[in-house]
Amino acid sequence: AAQRVGDRPPMGWNSWNKFGCDINEDLIRGAADALVSSGMKDAGYQYVNIDDCWAEQNRTADGKLEPNHEKFPHGIKALADYVHGLGLKLGIYTSAGTQTCQKTMPGALDHEEADAQSFADWGVDYLKYDNCNNQGRPAIERYTKMGDAIKKTGRPMIYALCEWGENQPWTWGRDAGAQLWRTTGDISDNWGSMTGILDQQVGLEKYSGPGGWNDPDMLEVGNGGMTDAEYRSHFSLWALLNAPLLAGNDLPAMSAANKKILENKDVIALDQDWAGTQGHKIRDDGDTEVWTKPMSDGSAAVVLFNRGSATAAMSTTAKDLGLKGRDYRVRDLWSGTETETAGTLRAAVPSHGSAVFRVWPATHPAAAPMTTLALPSPD
Ligand code: DGJ
Repeated sequence: AAQRVGDRPPMGWNSWNKFGCDINEDLIRGAADALVSSGMKDAGYQYVNIDDCWAEQNRTADGKLEPNHEKFPHGIKALADYVHGLGLKLGIYTSAGTQTCQKTMPGALDHEEADAQSFADWGVDYLKYDNCNNQGRPAIERYTKMGDAIKKTGRPMIYALCEWGENQPWTWGRDAGAQLWRTTGDISDNWGSMTGILDQQVGLEKYSGPGGWNDPDMLEVGNGGMTDAEYRSHFSLWALLNAPLLAGNDLPAMSAANKKILENKDVIALDQDWAGTQGHKIRDDGDTEVWTKPMSDGSAAVVLFNRGSATAAMSTTAKDLGLKGRDYRVRDLWSGTETETAGTLRAAVPSHGSAVFRVWPATHPAAAPMTTLALPSPD
């Protein structure tokens, strides 16, 4: 069966976290090339997303958006063609306001149909729709208008609400036509920001599912403000939350360590699998937390997360993870090692680190590789 946009959390790259407004078509093309050459594309990353600051400050005489002449001299259509030629998809950005957040270009408020049509004409596959300069007008109305405008173009596009969770978009995002909605303000490249956003996801698990995902914001892996252990925690937990996995680093300059994190197929498989609920916290002892997510093959994923400043001896049981039976096969998704257990999982988890396991009842056949995982029909 054909996959519909948003059936799984989208994966790709976005220019904002590393480059801000300092973007141009060479940079975007270079990111697309690097997605392919680094192995990210093979690992599932598909979208190449341009964020704020790509357009001219003023519309054309007939009211259309125009790509910034200096930064994107060949226009967005040429860039989309290039990206499509690599087997990837192109994403773009604007705001449900009079201007975008950086105020370098117009927003789409009251120009929804014209702008959605431009995006469709250019071959855009993904729209991130921000919330700045919104004139105090009701969010549901603003975001539904763009959802309708996208539908009217007839072009399948991921529609990503960037409303920052201000009006509980998880309760109306699907009706507005969106496949994802930001749940919080912006992430930044530090431990406090990442964990603060994580804390705000608790309780939102019931709103997520195929076709409509909670978005705890883009990845900071590789941007330099966190340790490898912290980035592994960030990536593991985002995967457990079925978050969109949008890398935000300088891909052509990616280190081997960061590549290992972003391309960990066992962890990515957690993100891309849906078995009825996004991952959620089942235990909180202050500095140590246990998060779990059921997997569609009957196994369970678990993250033992240590927020403390010293290594912690952590444990959980198969029973806590909702598994029945007596013997289990366990894979450590960061070391790749497999063991067997009668039901108790233990790990010495370093400060700010995570131990991530996938646990199969021993009677169960081995996990299928990610590419053959059955996708439950969204109907
Ligand atoms: C606010 C958004 O939340 C960010 O992700 C980014 O798109 C900036 N605006 C761009 O101005």
